Amino acid sequence: MKKVKTTFFCQDCGHQSPKWLGKCPSCGGWNRFVEEELRTHDRSALSDIQFDESPLSIEKIRADEKERITTGIAEVDRVLGGGIVNGSVTLVGGDPGIGKSTLLLQVLQNLAQKGLHVLYVSGEESAKQIKLRGKRVGAVSENLFILVEIDLDNIVKHIKGLLPGAVVIDSIQTVFSSELASAPGSVGQVRESSARLILLSKKTGIPIFLVGHVTKDGSIAGPKVLEHMVDTVLYFEGDSGHAYRIVRAMKNRFGPTNEIGVFEMRDNGLNEVSNPSAFFLTERPEGAAGSVVVPSMEGTRPILIEIQSLVSPTTLGMPRRTTIGVDHNRVSLIAAVMDKICGFRLGGHDIFINVAGGMKVDEPAIDLGIVSSMASSFLDRPVDAGTVVFGEVGLTGEVRGISQMETRIKEAARMGFRRCILPHVHSRSETPKGKIECISVSSIKKLLEYLF
Ligand code: TYD
Ligand code: MG
Repeated sequence: MKKVKTTFFCQDCGHQSPKWLGKCPSCGGWNRFVEEELRTHDRSALSDIQFDESPLSIEKIRADEKERITTGIAEVDRVLGGGIVNGSVTLVGGDPGIGKSTLLLQVLQNLAQKGLHVLYVSGEESAKQIKLRGKRVGAVSENLFILVEIDLDNIVKHIKGLLPGAVVIDSIQTVFSSELASAPGSVGQVRESSARLILLSKKTGIPIFLVGHVTKDGSIAGPKVLEHMVDTVLYFEGDSGHAYRIVRAMKNRFGPTNEIGVFEMRDNGLNEVSNPSAFFLTERPEGAAGSVVVPSMEGTRPILIEIQSLVSPTTLGMPRRTTIGVDHNRVSLIAAVMDKICGFRLGGHDIFINVAGGMKVDEPAIDLGIVSSMASSFLDRPVDAGTVVFGEVGLTGEVRGISQMETRIKEAARMGFRRCILPHVHSRSETPKGKIECISVSSIKKLLEYLF
C-alpha cells in the first residue's frame, strides 16, 4: 500500500512544517498547526480539465476590454473595475451575516435577467432557504439555477454540464474533494478545491465567485491562502450593527484596488448608496466641538467623511489613545507634533478618535482633519460647519500637498461646503473657480490660527 505523506499546515496562513509547531513562524498565530495529507498533484486529478495547449504569439491572442459583463448594480461593477471579466475568479470575504450570500444572489439575479444561465452552488443553506431569501431580494428568474452540493467532483460536473454564464460557490469552506482525507474547511481542502475551480474557470472562461468566511475562533481556514490564487478579492467592511455595508476591492488584477462600493441593508436585500458623501454626513452634529469633515479619496472616488475627536483630561497615569477607523500610530504622531509645535499639552489628556459611520480611512490626506478635530475638542471650540480640511502633516508641523486635490474640492463644493482649507503648494494652479473659497496653509500653526 502507498504510504500517505502528511505534513502540518497552519490553518490561518497555510504555512507548512514537517513537525508540529506551537507558534506559526509565518503569521505568528498560536496553536494553529494541524496535520493534513500532503498531495503531490498527479495528472489524473486534473484530467477533467484538458492541459494540452501550445504556446501562442501574444499578437494572435484575442482579448477585448469590452468583454466584461456588467452586473447592473453600479456599485458592484465599480469595485470589479467595470464589470465581471470572463474567466476570472473573485473571492468575496467578510464576517458571517454581513451580506455575502445576499449580494451574490442579487448579482446572479441581475445576470439571469439579461438572459444568462447562472448557477448558485450552496453548501450552507437548503434550496428552500435560498428560495425564501430569493423572494425577499427579488431573485426569481428561471435562468437562475440552485445547486445544493458540497462534493467538488459533482460541482465541477454540473458546471461543465450547464456551462453557466457565472457561478457562485457559497462557500469555499464547505466544498470538499474526496481525494483528500482532511475535513472540509481545512487548508488542504480549501486550497485543493479552489485550485481546481480556478483552473476550470480559466479553461472555460466562466467567471466564478467564491465566498470565503473569516471567523474569529479560527475553526475554519481563513481565506488568506486563497488571496494569492484568485484574481480579485472583495471584502465586506462595516458590521451587522449598522445598516450600511462597504465592499472594498483589496486585490484586483483587472482594475484599481481600494475602490469601494457602498450599500445599505434593507428588508429587500442590499441597496446601492449612490451618494455616499451625503450618506456619511447625515448624522453630523453641526456646530459641535471635535467634529470635522474631510474629503477622502476611496479608489477613484472622493467621499466626504466626518472625523470626531474627544480630548479630555485623563484620570490615569498613562493617557489613553483610542482610534476607530484611523491609524493609531498616525494619531500618536500627530498628537506629538501638536504638543511640540503648537504647545498643546496633550500628554495629560485621553484622546479618542472615531470616523463617523464606521468607515476606515487610510490616507495621509486626513492628517489635517485629525489636527483640526483634536484641537477643536481640546479647546472646546467648534470648527465652522461649512468648512472642509485636508492635507498631510509632516514631523516639523508643515502641511504637505496630496494627490487629487481638485477632485476633493469639487466634491466638497458639490455637497454645499463654502470653504476648503488645503496645503499651500498646489493652491495656485489647482483652485477651481466657483463658489468654494480655498485657503491654503503651510503649517499646522497657520491652520489653527485660521480656525480658532
Ligand atoms: P447573508 O447574506 O446571509 O450573510 P452572509 O452570507 O455574509 O453570512 O446576510 C444575512 C443578514 O442580512 C441577516 O442578518 C439578515 C440580513 N438581511 C436583511 O436585512 N435583508 C434582506 O433582505 C436579507 C436577504 C438579509
Ligand atoms: Mg451566507
